[in-house]
Amino acid sequence: MAGRIPQHFIDDLLSRIDIVDVVSSRIELKRAGNNHKACCPFHGEKTPSFTVSQNKQFYHCFGCGVNGSAIGFLMEYDGLHFVDAIETLAEMLGVEVPREQSGSKFNNPQAATDNRELFQLMETVAVHYVNQLKNSQHAVEYLTKRGLSGSTAKRFRIGYAPDGYDNLDKTFSAQRKALETTGMLAKNDRGNVYARFRDRIMFPIRDRRGRVIGFGGRVLEKQEPKYLNSPETLLFHKSKELYGLYESRRDAQDSGYALIVEGYMDVVALAEAGIGNAMATLGTSPNQHHCETLFRIVPRIVFCFDGDRAGREAAWRAAQAALPCLRDGRDAHFLFLPDGEDPDSLVANEGRQGFEKRLNETRVAIIDYLFEHVGRDIDTSELGGKARLAEQMTPLLMQMPEGIYRNICLQRLENIVGFPIDPAQMTSGSSKRTNAETLPTMRGNRSGAGMGTSNHRQENRRDREPQKLSIMRHTILLLLNHPELASHCSSEEFTISEHLQGAQLLVAMLETCKQHTYRNSAQVLEYFRDTQHEAVLQKLMLIDLMPDGSELEEAQAQEQFRHCLQQIHNKSIAGSVTQLPSSQRTGLLSVTRKKPVV
Ligand code: UTP
Ligand code: MN
Repeated sequence: MAGRIPQHFIDDLLSRIDIVDVVSSRIELKRAGNNHKACCPFHGEKTPSFTVSQNKQFYHCFGCGVNGSAIGFLMEYDGLHFVDAIETLAEMLGVEVPREQSGSKFNNPQAATDNRELFQLMETVAVHYVNQLKNSQHAVEYLTKRGLSGSTAKRFRIGYAPDGYDNLDKTFSAQRKALETTGMLAKNDRGNVYARFRDRIMFPIRDRRGRVIGFGGRVLEKQEPKYLNSPETLLFHKSKELYGLYESRRDAQDSGYALIVEGYMDVVALAEAGIGNAMATLGTSPNQHHCETLFRIVPRIVFCFDGDRAGREAAWRAAQAALPCLRDGRDAHFLFLPDGEDPDSLVANEGRQGFEKRLNETRVAIIDYLFEHVGRDIDTSELGGKARLAEQMTPLLMQMPEGIYRNICLQRLENIVGFPIDPAQMTSGSSKRTNAETLPTMRGNRSGAGMGTSNHRQENRRDREPQKLSIMRHTILLLLNHPELASHCSSEEFTISEHLQGAQLLVAMLETCKQHTYRNSAQVLEYFRDTQHEAVLQKLMLIDLMPDGSELEEAQAQEQFRHCLQQIHNKSIAGSVTQLPSSQRTGLLSVTRKKPVV
């Protein structure tokens, strides 16, 4: 495991990179006043509501609510994890990402370099297997028999591990330890180390950045196990990865959906037939992590399962994994194949056209699937049946994030059962709360805006209506928009009582912005990523300081800020005097130790 990336590096990156460059390297932006606009890449729309602010170094879509810094954008758009997004930005600037050598959570100072070497090693092993394939007539014949062309083999970098317990020894004699770490060598009870994959067709498994992290190996003859996968290693976590994610991602983005299948050969055979957007889980059912990863890339997932019992069970699990990810603009479908067939055998028999016809004509939307699956044994012509359907469907639907899609589904349930659904009575904790619901509310009581039939509606619009902010929130908002204000204030003038709501955050921000000389909102947001303050800050980012959305002048901001701090100061002093006996007059947080300059 690599050491932490130092905060100062992230700060520096965000001060040097321009989010407008980052976003416009992926989508076309048009200037609109102070900001840049585009049609949102994260949900389908015809009029642009996706906005990028150069000043704040922040993007936000008024339509679907996504927002964040350049780092967040890359995570969403490229489907990257945090660290990978940082590395991508660093690459754009041509700098190396440093790692903290000590104080690492994993206490392993060597970790960063080690991982890089492990990736490198896996890369050379993959090349080695590809070269071995060229030397093995037996393996080439097998692939030809399965209908694979050279170009598809190349696309997936399919290789061959020759027979022999020592098949890696000659080429990799100096790297035995690392081969063990990556699972390429296995150890038996007597401590003998040997090549895990022997006489197998090798499918390299690559992470989202194309790095080889593991392998799947298939026997050529009828033997057990048919497929052998890399074990869990530092690089490879079976339940998180998707075979073909890297190879099929472009095609999936172009077609607007990803096809999720069960096997390596399904992905490869579909690509061979011209269907290049397939990916496979690695012997597990699709889980929520898979769904999130996929929805960062495409708006729609089509799960493809066997029509047999095992396939139906896997589909049910996949549906439950997908539901919490189905915010507006995203959807999932199911394609059930005839018993005994898999996508590989189907495209072999029916060709691309046949498969696509099936896909278009027989796939089932997740919501239809749920109603069908849950309602199968329920007679809804009776009152009891209606109640049972409502009881079973409501908690499922409440797994979906708040939004139009969920409301439509709830409406459908209401139409079937013929009475209004009150999710509060039926969910008892099964509803997954969204971030927004757990936030301290800034827009009054939301009750009543949820589930009643006539009240079904999207919440996003309301988020950007002008809101009356508390003085504390207004101050934090000012500082978030103008982090440089922190360097203009001092404690001799202003006192902030820790008893005031939001005081902890304000003080933390003042200190941080000053210490790191932050200049834009994105730096502040990223500093507080994964802290208890993150959600509040994100929410505040969406509020405009000026009612018309224009930017506040520097001088005005300073004046407002000073005024706000003065009010907080007055409140703090008054509160501490009236609430506490003088002997206990503690809890007054100081802002800084510098002479007042405001
Ligand atoms: P299948 O047995 O359906 O294989 O396993 P397949 O993809 O159709 O392969 P071919 O057509 O016979 O070559 C589906 C997936 O389950 C996992 C693998 O990920 C495989 O692709 N699996 C299967 C294993 O991990 N081990 C096994 O022994 C079998
Ligand atoms: Mn098969």
